[in-house]
Amino acid sequence: MGTRAVQCLLFLLLLGAPFLASVQNLKCHKGVSTSIEKDPSSVFNWTTEEAESCESGSFCQESLLMVKAGTKTAVLATKGCTSDGTQAVTYVQHSPPPGIITVSYTSYCDDSFCNNRKDLQELWRPEETQEASRAPNTSGVPLYCPTCVALGTCLTAPSLLCPNDTIQCYEGKLQISGGGIDSVLEIKGCTSVTGCGLMAGFFTIGPMWVKEVCPHQSLPQPRKVENGATWLPVSVWRLGLLLLLLLQ
Ligand SMILES: *[C@@H]1O[C@H](CO)[C@@H](O)[C@H](O)[C@H]1NC(C)=O
Ligand SMILES: *[C@@H]1O[C@H](CO)[C@@H](O)[C@H](O)[C@H]1NC(C)=O
Ligand SMILES: *[C@@H]1O[C@H](CO)[C@@H](O)[C@H](O)[C@H]1NC(C)=O
Repeated sequence: MGTRAVQCLLFLLLLGAPFLASVQNLKCHKGVSTSIEKDPSSVFNWTTEEAESCESGSFCQESLLMVKAGTKTAVLATKGCTSDGTQAVTYVQHSPPPGIITVSYTSYCDDSFCNNRKDLQELWRPEETQEASRAPNTSGVPLYCPTCVALGTCLTAPSLLCPNDTIQCYEGKLQISGGGIDSVLEIKGCTSVTGCGLMAGFFTIGPMWVKEVCPHQSLPQPRKVENGATWLPVSVWRLGLLLLLLLQ
């Protein structure tokens, strides 16, 4: 085979994957869910009844934002077609325990109905971060914070003793739009992040766009999550997740 033929073959190989994906009519699970859960890992059902046909060149996506404050967790989830992006799984822990925990998960794939994750069992295990076993800070003046998470506005925000290593009371709102979601989350609680930084500067979650607003705070500079499998500051349960995703 001459050099020219090899080049031609390479060219076809490079073109092959996107070309095939655009020829078949990609179909994806479709659904949107916004809820406040006490125990999302065992209760949340991420199966959807609907499906949609995508335009050529699309991917299936499933994307999720979870925010835990006190005993409750907000879960915002969307599945469907998406026209831009690359095939990738992204998991970001925006704000770590102790205190308010914010994580997001995005998976883009290019086989029909591949956005088929059914629950949050491997994605949400805050108990394994041993937050509950962290003692409150008794070394100085104890810190108490109003604590709540709600879709819209918190009706009540009981003042709770903060765990050790939290540094401030957070009060803010996340405005989430895109992927069929248009919601506002109000969040209050003890946190180990500084300022209005619950999202840690990562405001794009698949098709969702998040705007973080705190009273009397300036906004941090946005940074976009890089494409490709991205794993930010690691703890044990997320290593478990990484293994799980690699084994799939
Ligand atoms: C989740 O919901 C679907 C229907 O929406 C149902 O068929 C399925 O059994 C549910 N799964 C669980 C574990 O409850
Ligand atoms: C809280 O953290 C400080 C400094 O790390 C430590 O000295 C103290 O013992 C901790 N308090 C509790 C109750 O664990
Ligand atoms: C404990 O609380 C005091 C006063 O609020 C604070 O200065 C100190 O940094 C806290 N220590 C830890 C480990 O959180």
